Amino acid sequence: MPAERTLPVAGSNSTVLVFADADAAARAAADRIARVVAESVAARGKAILGLATGATPEKVYDDLAARVAAGTLSFRDATTYNLDEYYPIQPLDPLSYRAYMHRLLFSRVDLAANRAHVLDGTVPEEATAEHAAQFDRWIDADGGLDVQLLGIGRNGHIGFNEPSDLSVEGFAARSTLLIDLHPVTRADAVREFGSLEAVIPRALTMGVRQILGARTVVMLATGPKKAAIVAEALKGPVTAAVPASLLRTVADKVVWLLDEPAAAELG
Ligand code: F6R
Repeated sequence: MPAERTLPVAGSNSTVLVFADADAAARAAADRIARVVAESVAARGKAILGLATGATPEKVYDDLAARVAAGTLSFRDATTYNLDEYYPIQPLDPLSYRAYMHRLLFSRVDLAANRAHVLDGTVPEEATAEHAAQFDRWIDADGGLDVQLLGIGRNGHIGFNEPSDLSVEGFAARSTLLIDLHPVTRADAVREFGSLEAVIPRALTMGVRQILGARTVVMLATGPKKAAIVAEALKGPVTAAVPASLLRTVADKVVWLLDEPAAAELG
């Protein structure tokens, strides 16, 4: 196993594990997801997984796909719900998160196609509220998420729950919804879209209620660009202005998996 240390963060009972590099942190995230799949299937005959996209979890999906190929993991009894999707977007658009998930995970594992849920970027705008409510009802009907994999935006967003002036209670209770992307998120999306003008400025996102309601939350953050916001989320005030800080309201079930550069400002 790679070198790992547990970082005590003053004033926070969050579990923070720091790994020598991003690959080791991703492997640890895959380990935890694989363990939740095994334990949930053993206990309840099914595993309900909340998944993330972006650059950070790519290696997690490579690792999970390798385990399935090796016969040590199966998604046969799994159901997945992704955090978010651009709006509007076609699922076959290579920039959609549906396409990302197909490329990195769905096409490589034994997950039933009708149990791989990604919010639908093609629903008519008037129907987005009902679609979002339906997404929450599906997760609730499945008994909630056994595990939610998260990344963190440079502005502290989780899913596409952008910084907000809502109260902590109001933000924590928020349902799945259509949102405007924050300028920092749009700037970071230039990496995928090629230019700021090309970035789709809105998205559907799972609300904070479902994220905080997951029985386990795995936050994966790697690289120096995440150092400042990781420190802010773990050591600054708990506020909707820093969405990931709300993970401290459910700290007992949250694990932060960091590489050394992302942990650099935690002291
Ligand atoms: C993606 C998502 C976002 C990303 C975050 C970090 O589904 O919900 O919150 O996790 O923007 O993105 P990367 O990993 O590209 O730095």
